[in-house]
Amino acid sequence: MRHTRGAGPRSRTGMGSILLTLILLLLPAVSTEVNFGPTLDFLGRFHPIVVHFPIVLILCTVFFEWMFGSFKGPIGLSILNLLYSWSMYSAVAAVLAGYFLFRSGDYGGDLIDTHFWSGVAVAVLMIWCVHFRKRYEKTHRWRWRQLSRALLLLSGVTVAFAGHQGGSLTHGPDFVVEPIQKAIHDRNLQEKTVLKNPASQLVFRDLLLPAFDRTCLKCHNAQNAKSDLDLSTFAGIEAGGKSLKPMLIPGRPEESELFVRVNLPPKHDEYMPPDGKIPLKDAEVDLLYHWIKAGALEEDTLGRLMQNDTLRKVMDSYLPELAENQLSRQAQRLERMKTGPRLARMALDLGLEVRPDEETDSAYYTLSMQFPPKVITDETLAKLLPYKDYFSKVSLVGADVTDEGLYYLGQMSNLQSLILTKSCIKGYGLAYLKDLPKLKMINLSHTDLNDQNLLFLNQFPVLQRAYVFNTFVSPEVVKVVDEHLENARITLEEGDYY
Ligand code: HEC
Repeated sequence: MRHTRGAGPRSRTGMGSILLTLILLLLPAVSTEVNFGPTLDFLGRFHPIVVHFPIVLILCTVFFEWMFGSFKGPIGLSILNLLYSWSMYSAVAAVLAGYFLFRSGDYGGDLIDTHFWSGVAVAVLMIWCVHFRKRYEKTHRWRWRQLSRALLLLSGVTVAFAGHQGGSLTHGPDFVVEPIQKAIHDRNLQEKTVLKNPASQLVFRDLLLPAFDRTCLKCHNAQNAKSDLDLSTFAGIEAGGKSLKPMLIPGRPEESELFVRVNLPPKHDEYMPPDGKIPLKDAEVDLLYHWIKAGALEEDTLGRLMQNDTLRKVMDSYLPELAENQLSRQAQRLERMKTGPRLARMALDLGLEVRPDEETDSAYYTLSMQFPPKVITDETLAKLLPYKDYFSKVSLVGADVTDEGLYYLGQMSNLQSLILTKSCIKGYGLAYLKDLPKLKMINLSHTDLNDQNLLFLNQFPVLQRAYVFNTFVSPEVVKVVDEHLENARITLEEGDYY
């Protein structure tokens, strides 16, 4: 029988390569019903160690192949041969171990899929790289060598990618850049924590606005402006209200409506804030007076106003209190910002997502469902209790949260907006939310809310908007509650999901 040159080894390595490739490609086809038993589970645990071999070996092979490719002696050649074959074996071993690890644990998600397939790609590329290299050695045809080298290079790129992804899986996606992100974050924090010296504080932005925020904004903000007056910005104040009276006349506080209203006797009908609500402090009223007197300039500083003796006396006693307030606000904020990344990781494990709330200048966080959603129950919320003051917005669309779970939400003192659309609540738990001092918006659409429980909304102190589309409430009751609530609007609309 006549032998064709190299037919024997060629078909043997050929069959082996095809077989190994098929095994690797068909791994995901093994039914999840099959139990691998403890030995293979055990082998799977070695994946994190084994993976380092193909990474190092393949990159070494690339290096030696290109560095010493054209002039290597017999020793160099045998080292290179070893590198090639061990790169291949270790890649196959890493994929198998990785597969067993995957099967023994509860891994899931897109990341794990791409990681698996990039690992398989590395192994398959190496198998065929070695195969064509053997071919080149037998035939000395240049094209086999070129093909082999191309596959090696591709495998090198893929192994780097797979390795990076594996790192992301074990250490979180930002593992590599985290120290840099943290450094930037910390520096920003430092810049923000320096308390401005009193003289350079802006009278309007640093002193008057926070005072209005405390006492007036509930009724005079951009969304809900009593008498069409928005006191949340300088422009809003200048624009004035329904009466068309000028709010600020530079130099003439006695004729400026903004000052007039807070300077009346508290019993007066037009005194602001009305109905015995917490008023401005005397020092703040004085400051408002002197600020208008000095021209009501947005960029005026306290230092300049304090040249006036009367105001200086007032402010001298007020400043320590002011500084203390500002400092404690900043300290709390700092604490929240520092713990943020840890909280975000914990939430991720619980199946939720935490992000800084841009609208609060990242002082607070938003909490929302992941996509695709995980099962979120009352217990999940209980676990977040240590962070109860961190959240300004919570969106639990479609969560398995019940009325009992509202107890935990009721502890979140900084909550402004709460979306419970499609959750399992009937509404009696809304009683837990009635003391939330900042809750402005609640969405209860697509829940089992009924007329009786809707009445709890009457007790919410600063509610502005509630959505109750597709619930058991009747339009008549919605109308009555809506009319009864002076500052809030209750509607049968679906509302936002975020
Ligand atoms: C509880 C709700 C509420 C709070 C809090 C409140 N206001 Fe008012 N404000 C009203 C209502 C209602 C009106 C319209 C009736 C009126 O003119 O008295 C009004 C009207 C005004 C007007 C007149 C607007 C115009 O059209 O000329 C001014 C000025 C004003 N408020 C200033 C303030 C200031 C300053 C504060 C904080 C110290 C404040 N308000 C707090 C409810 C409130």
